[in-house]
Amino acid sequence: MNPKVTVIGSMNMDLVAETERRPEPGETVLGEQFTMNPGGKGFNQAVAAARLGADVQMIGRVGDDAFGREIISHLAKEGMSTNHVEQVTDTSTGTATIVVSEGENNIVVVPGANHRLSPEDLENVEPTIADSDIVLLQLETPMDTVTAAARVARRHHVPVILNPAPYQALPTALVHQIDYLTPNEHEHRLMHHDALLDHFDNPLIVTKGSAGTDVYNHGKGSTVQGYTVDPIDTTGAGDAFNGGLAARLASGSSLTEAVRYANAVGARAVTKLGAQSGMPTHQEVLQLMDEMD
Ligand code: RIB
Repeated sequence: MNPKVTVIGSMNMDLVAETERRPEPGETVLGEQFTMNPGGKGFNQAVAAARLGADVQMIGRVGDDAFGREIISHLAKEGMSTNHVEQVTDTSTGTATIVVSEGENNIVVVPGANHRLSPEDLENVEPTIADSDIVLLQLETPMDTVTAAARVARRHHVPVILNPAPYQALPTALVHQIDYLTPNEHEHRLMHHDALLDHFDNPLIVTKGSAGTDVYNHGKGSTVQGYTVDPIDTTGAGDAFNGGLAARLASGSSLTEAVRYANAVGARAVTKLGAQSGMPTHQEVLQLMDEMD
């Protein structure tokens, strides 16, 4: 049976401009290309896990508009159920305005409908959460909702991964309900600064791109090797990692095996433009690991 992953989080339309040079404040530059792609950290992570063979339930909110309809139809095309993605009428679908230059990106997210996902909505999907092998959360939906999601999962002994992105200080009540925390290096530094890790005893997984991933578990730290590729667009690399980690942990792999696999998922994902277009299949991940190990 396929592992069951429930992703609770954001669904955005990504508005992507590629340019040779990033504009300085107050400057206008001419770009090379514009594309619109479905994105959002939650949706990207769901697509990553689904392409790797997990049975994924996506829980989120979009607006009653063209972007919202496009996102729902894309969800179905990726083979996922649309049952838990509702359209709200009082605000528009979340957007991310992204500038890609020299393989790196800058992003402005306007959450819109993502901020309509409420703690009560989570109580209403309790049976779906209870039936999951793992729950995957990020921070583009309200903090109360993320906390409620973790609480419901904990009630049913379902492990929770929190990808603390984009970074915000976490309430202690949330930290105590998390089984795996997956910051990148920048988020990790901010967590230390805010003393958020003082009472966190579960695996802390710090992603560093091609430099690999640091895993701190039971007082011990180790680095799991990364993979070096030529990046085209790093948007969604962390999402690919998290989707891969969730799919692999849900299918019973050890933490080290799952992190190694997730490193390869993240590396493969940056070789195409757009957050979701580079998300690999299980076969493609195995091939990359084979070629590079
Ligand atoms: O992590 C990448 C994602 O962040 C983009 O798809 C964008 O929607 C923003 O949420």
